[in-house]
Amino acid sequence: MIDGASDTVQFAHRHLLGIEGLSPDDITLLLDRSESYVEQNRQIDKKKSVLRGRTIINLFFEASTRTRTSFELAGKRLGSDVINMSVSTSSIKKGETLIDTAMTLNAMHPDVLVLRHPDAGAAKLLSEKVNCAVINAGDGSHEHPTQALLDALTIRRRRGRLQGLMVAICGDIVHSRVARSNIHLLNTMGARVRLIAPRTLIPEGVERLGVEVFHDMKEGLEDCDIVMMLRLQIERMHGNFFPSIREYFHFFGLDYEKLASAKPDALIMHPGPMNRGVEIDSEVADDFGRSAIREQVEMGVAVRMACLELLTLNQPEAEQRNL
Ligand code: NCD
Repeated sequence: MIDGASDTVQFAHRHLLGIEGLSPDDITLLLDRSESYVEQNRQIDKKKSVLRGRTIINLFFEASTRTRTSFELAGKRLGSDVINMSVSTSSIKKGETLIDTAMTLNAMHPDVLVLRHPDAGAAKLLSEKVNCAVINAGDGSHEHPTQALLDALTIRRRRGRLQGLMVAICGDIVHSRVARSNIHLLNTMGARVRLIAPRTLIPEGVERLGVEVFHDMKEGLEDCDIVMMLRLQIERMHGNFFPSIREYFHFFGLDYEKLASAKPDALIMHPGPMNRGVEIDSEVADDFGRSAIREQVEMGVAVRMACLELLTLNQPEAEQRNL
């Protein structure tokens, strides 16, 4: 292995399709590896050649700013070639199916396909059809594993641990793959999770995932260490989920008054993109001392570098992959 990458690291999965199914050791391995890239990303020379000669394809069927850029930077900083494909510029516009597109790309011998798709299960389906590693960059309302990992890295760096922390996830839970991946990760790592939202934005039976549900912000935020806000995903809503944006902000938007119920040093997080004045007050979002929102974006690149590295170095040799 090159450039100081440890030759003892072992990730026991061929793909990263979700957090569900990962063990505490898997998650710790990914976070520890990510940690080593945080410093590298702060240097003037950010480039290594761990993945030199490898090809990563970003296949995005949904709009994205930070996730796509983050995967692209991550791949390039490890020395691999990165191709970006988005719906607006591809044959998908001409009616090609996900699998046909994937098979076409697969024939070009990529090492990793990073997929974002509006349908839950799309990444799993893809992983069954191609020879390379697949990373789920968000599939419908199902999972978004690298987001949960970057959130965990941000929390671990600020609090030194995940175990025993009380984390509130607030807002549009029902449409949120970020919430689902975070619930799995935080539960696996021994944190406690509270969901706070109007009844219409809480999925039925979610208590089975081992969370506590609240419909009142002040009550739910009491003694929380971490306050994770979610965007109202209007584009996934068919029908009325709340009376008006104004009323939603009044009851569920994070402002200093509601935040006062949480621990005095509670950390504020948001995966972005933020709707200021809808789920979060602008001043709270920009509170330099308490908001970790920009740090989350920074950690995203490090986490994606670790995922790309561990999955790529874990691949069977080309002959065994029938290439
Ligand atoms: C999230 C997503 O796409 O699921 N964004 C992201 O990846 N940073 C959350 C959202 O869109 O609200």
